[in-house]
Order: sequence, then structure tokens, then C-alpha cells
Amino acid sequence: MIIKNCVTYPNNKIIDIKIKDGFVSGDSDDDITIDAERNIVMPSFSELHIHLDSVFILDRDIENKSGTLEEGISLWDKYKKEKLNPSEMRNRVMKAINLLENNGITRIRTNIDVSDPSLTALREMVKIKKEIKKVDLQITAFPQHGLFTYPENLELLEKSMELGADNVGLAPHLEDTYEEGIKSIKIAYDLAEKYNKNIDGHIDETDDPASRFIEMLAKEKITRNFNGSVSAGHLTALHSYNNQYASKVIKLIARSGINVISNPLINMHLQGRYNSYPRIRGITRIREMLDQGVNVVIGQDCIMDPWYPLGSGDPLDALFMALHVEPLMTPNLLEYSLNMLTYNAAKVFGTNNYGYELGSQGDFIITDAKNPVEIIQYRNRRKVVRGGILIKGD
Ligand code: FE2
Repeated sequence: MIIKNCVTYPNNKIIDIKIKDGFVSGDSDDDITIDAERNIVMPSFSELHIHLDSVFILDRDIENKSGTLEEGISLWDKYKKEKLNPSEMRNRVMKAINLLENNGITRIRTNIDVSDPSLTALREMVKIKKEIKKVDLQITAFPQHGLFTYPENLELLEKSMELGADNVGLAPHLEDTYEEGIKSIKIAYDLAEKYNKNIDGHIDETDDPASRFIEMLAKEKITRNFNGSVSAGHLTALHSYNNQYASKVIKLIARSGINVISNPLINMHLQGRYNSYPRIRGITRIREMLDQGVNVVIGQDCIMDPWYPLGSGDPLDALFMALHVEPLMTPNLLEYSLNMLTYNAAKVFGTNNYGYELGSQGDFIITDAKNPVEIIQYRNRRKVVRGGILIKGD
């Protein structure tokens, strides 16, 4: 495939992209030529935080009346007990992957709940990962109830690593006590070191300003000189910290090299539920972290499940929400913001060959946009290319 007359993001160079055997190459077999007509052609998006095991389960039995994280968890527990099975999950997962792919995503990191004693969802997801060619998939073993709330949790997390999960998950704010939350962080590092995995946690997903597990997650990475990648999902409590503590902890996050994955759609929906007016916005401090050099990524988290009744699978919807809630609409930051779906996200996924250089993955989004802001404004994607094959558009 040759894509002619591409304008690169973010540097605005005009180039032709040649793709051979799935990768950017100096030549191509010239089967297909696409003229981008001097519009932006950007490397594809990555979705770093989604729960594919629970997508599309919303129905009349599964209505989250309080709109809280907690009611969502108990509805999901009910679904797992009564309805979850491999084939119905597979149908839902494939439907979601199609949506994501159509929206320009070719790398997906999914959380999979590993609190179910039979590990039904994890086993099926590992099978899907082995079979699927349409996207690159990573699985995070997510202990939905923490590691110490039930005696079997820890064993299930370790078993998940043995069965093929890529990342160790954790949720210290869901543990029963502060001490157990801290202990869960140390165990996550122990497991990641033992199985040579990365860490991707749900961290401080609460409005409680006393939830400060992020500092230990960061400090432990520094102390152990942990070489893997560590990501903190949600981090909504950072919104509620006082400014002096927030400033200190953001510097620590930057120093540790931890990635932060914000999920603005669901965070705006679930957070602030224990407030009266004025309501807090319940989204992490994206702007302040970007200013300090933290690698911030935007994720979607959910599509039509007990935690979020909407969701189109479009990462630009999540970015759009972040732009409104956080003070990001300066001309420079608006243009930069697409980095949180592209370069920053690919870095978390561990994709080294990303971009326009020779040898990069041949995954691109061809737009009708003359500048990056138009991509956000009009959700502009004409075609999606995966490894030199057109997967959206004609
Ligand atoms: Fe999540």
C-alpha cells in the first residue's frame, strides 16, 4: 500500500507512506494507492483502559440507580453469577472490538475481572487474544474486589498471570483497610517481578482525598528500580487533594515515570455522587500532570455496562470530555491533546515501532482534516489502515 500526500501529526510534514508486509517500508508492492490529498494521516489510536468482559451487558435487570461505582460492582457480580459464559462474552467482546477498530484503534489493553473463582472471563479472553489478528491485545488481570477482601483473591491473581495475563492489576482503594491497600501494591510489584510483567492498576478511583495510594505506587517503583511499565488508571482522588499535596505527588509521579490513564467519560458520570452542590468534577488533574511531564493517556473504560450506560467506542468522545472538564483548550494543548490517544498511549502499550519511520507498524488513520483540531471537532476519520490493509473506508 502507498498512502500519498499525507500530512504528518504532529509535525505537519508532507510525505508518502509506503507499507510492505505490515510495516512502513522504503518500497511497497504497490497494490493499493490512496491519495490523502494533503490531509492529516496519523498513526493509529491505542485504547489502554477498557473492560471488555462487561461491555454491552446493560439491560433492565442491570440498572445502576445510584450511579455509583459501588452499585456497579454489585450488579456486575450478579451478572457474573447468573449469566456470564464464554460464548455470550465472546459475542460482546467481538462487537466491541469491531467498534473500537472502526474508530481507529488497533491496540487494546483490556482489564479482565479475575475475582471469579473459575476465571471464566480471563480464560476466554486469553483464547480471543491468541486468535485475533485485527488488533493487538493485552490483558490486565483486574482484581475487582482487591486482593484481601476474600481469601482466594490473591491466588486467583497469580493464577491469572500463569494463564497468560500480560499485566498485574490492583485496586488498593477497594481493600478493606489502608494497610491492606499498601500491602496490595507491594504484592503487585512482587508478582510483576516474578512473572516479568507490567503493572496497570485502578488507583485511587474515589473522591476521597484521603485515598493516597498513588504515592506508594510511585515510591515503590523508584525504590525497587522496577524496570517494567507501571500505569495508574483513573486517579480521580487527585482531583480532590489539596493543591499543596497534589503538587508534591504530581512531582513524585513524574519522577517515578508512572503513566496515568484518565477515563473522563465514566469519571464524570460516577464521581461526585457523594457531593451536594457545588459538585466536584471528579477527573484527575490532566493539565497539571502534562505540565510536569507525566505521560498521560485517555481511556474509555466502559461501553454500556453497570458503570456507564453510554459509550460509542470512540476515543475521541473521551478526549472531547477531557478537553471540556480540564483546562486544555488552549491552541497548543488542543493540538497536543491527540498525543494522549496516539504517542503517549502507544508508549504505555509498549509499541516501540510507532510513527512514520521505516519499520513502524503500518497502522494509520486517514482523515479529511487539514489540522489536528478538525479531527477532534468533526470526529474526522475517513479510512483506517491496519498493517497495510484497509479496515475502514474504501
Ligand atoms: Fe476501569
